[in-house]
Amino acid sequence: MSLIQRLILVLAVALLLFGVVMTFTYDIIKIEWISFMEIQPSFKPMEHPLPVANRSIPVEGAAYIPGQGSPLNPVPADEVSVERGRILFSLNCAQCHGPNGEGNGIIGGAIVWPPANLTSPVVQTKADGALFLTISNGIQGADGQIHMPALNENLTVRDRWDVVNYIRTLKTTPIPQP
Ligand code: HEC
Repeated sequence: MSLIQRLILVLAVALLLFGVVMTFTYDIIKIEWISFMEIQPSFKPMEHPLPVANRSIPVEGAAYIPGQGSPLNPVPADEVSVERGRILFSLNCAQCHGPNGEGNGIIGGAIVWPPANLTSPVVQTKADGALFLTISNGIQGADGQIHMPALNENLTVRDRWDVVNYIRTLKTTPIPQP
């Protein structure tokens, strides 16, 4: 083999290798390579609370285990919790349920479903965990309409229990109506 022939052979092999590499570079041959942030399990805002995603690390622990009934209240109803609950209630609930939780909030009359009277025995005889789940998931009527929105994105787990502790005080010490 002459020198020229060898040179041509080497060049041909190099060109072939180069061509193969280029087919990958320009995605002519595409290999699925997960390296993008957008390729991951994600949930839309205000989506129904879902089980914790695979391999994620909960920061404050799961609020409750779906299908295991209503959770127990882990937050003692002390002065701090009730006061936090009172403030959070006035910000997140009073517009519908009224300043005293009697179901007479300013927009309560404007929505299709009358907000529940939280001082009533119907609500007060419910377990803390049941109220917690109502706040977390909202209320969907049998008609499939959302009667009360889920507030799990507005209130942290601790916030929700504080609101529950505050609701408990409504039956005993109702604030006088202005
Ligand atoms: C957009 C208006 C709205 C807001 C805001 C709202 N609710 Fe409600 N809530 C409703 C309506 C309407 C109902 C009654 C739904 C029905 O009867 O189907 C209801 C029902 C309830 C009930 C009764 C559940 C039962 O099982 O009887 C509780 C408890 C409750 N809300 C707590 C809260 C708390 C606590 C907040 C704030 C963290 C809140 N709601 C915010 C509209 C609202």
